[in-house]
Amino acid sequence: MAAVRRAAVQGAAVQGAAVQRAAVLRAVVLRAAPTRSAPGLVLRPWTDADAGPLLEAYRDPVLRRFTIQPVRDDEDAARWLVAQRDGWDSGRRFSFAVLQDGPDPGAAPLVANVVLKLAGSMDGYADVGYWTAGYARGRGIAPRAVEALTAWAFGTFAGNGLDRLALVHQVDNHASCRVAEKTGYAFARILPARPPFPREGHLHVRHWRVTGPSQLGHRDRPS
Ligand SMILES: CC(C)(COP(=O)(O)OP(=O)(O)OC[C@H]1O[C@@H](n2cnc3c(N)ncnc32)[C@H](O)[C@@H]1OP(=O)(O)O)[C@@H](O)C(=O)NCCC(=O)NCCS
Repeated sequence: MAAVRRAAVQGAAVQGAAVQRAAVLRAVVLRAAPTRSAPGLVLRPWTDADAGPLLEAYRDPVLRRFTIQPVRDDEDAARWLVAQRDGWDSGRRFSFAVLQDGPDPGAAPLVANVVLKLAGSMDGYADVGYWTAGYARGRGIAPRAVEALTAWAFGTFAGNGLDRLALVHQVDNHASCRVAEKTGYAFARILPARPPFPREGHLHVRHWRVTGPSQLGHRDRPS
């Protein structure tokens, strides 16, 4: 009986530690410095209050075309936000709302999303994903946010064996290919089409410590 009670106490302690760890991770805020032509970025976990801007961003057909889970209405938005929170709680998926930095944090516009997806057993690698709201494209936001996410991912999980990050985009997604190139994710190979995407993909990989300083283009460099 005492052994059962001890096991229950230990189980509760492990669960408590996991909950505490998730809470610590959920409090993480990342930053990307301003450039000569663009303000700084703040990356923080998504919250329920982001439903409106999320829905607005997903009105864009280009975003719908290149993402798996379109957000079409309030219900989709709520489901999407729950999935992001669950990701942080399970320690499997870490997504960040990217906001334009400004004097009033409460009024900072949503400009992008970046996400780190750990494989089941981690197995040394994880995937990154991203999108930028239609109105904010072409200002180097995705590369700067991916760079911040990459640094955080290696800084946080390299001790757990993470040594490479993968990025996959459909072959005809040239804008995404440019993001990969600008952030030092080297082209690795062509992948077969993966439903629901109809065309083949590009796999790009960035290795921990192998890649030198950020390869962001001149106009994207911090000023
Ligand atoms: C791919 C994507 C994230 C790029 O984000 P971004 O913040 O605009 O990134 P950048 O500013 O570095 O622009 C990247 C490329 O987009 C293209 N681009 C430039 N201005 C653009 C604009 N106003 N609108 C669309 N694309 C533009 C250019 O090819 C640019 O490359 P360049 O800098 O060599 O000219 C964005 O286009 C997007 O959200 N697309 C839809 C979702 C998606 O494809 N996600 C990735 C799935 S793998």
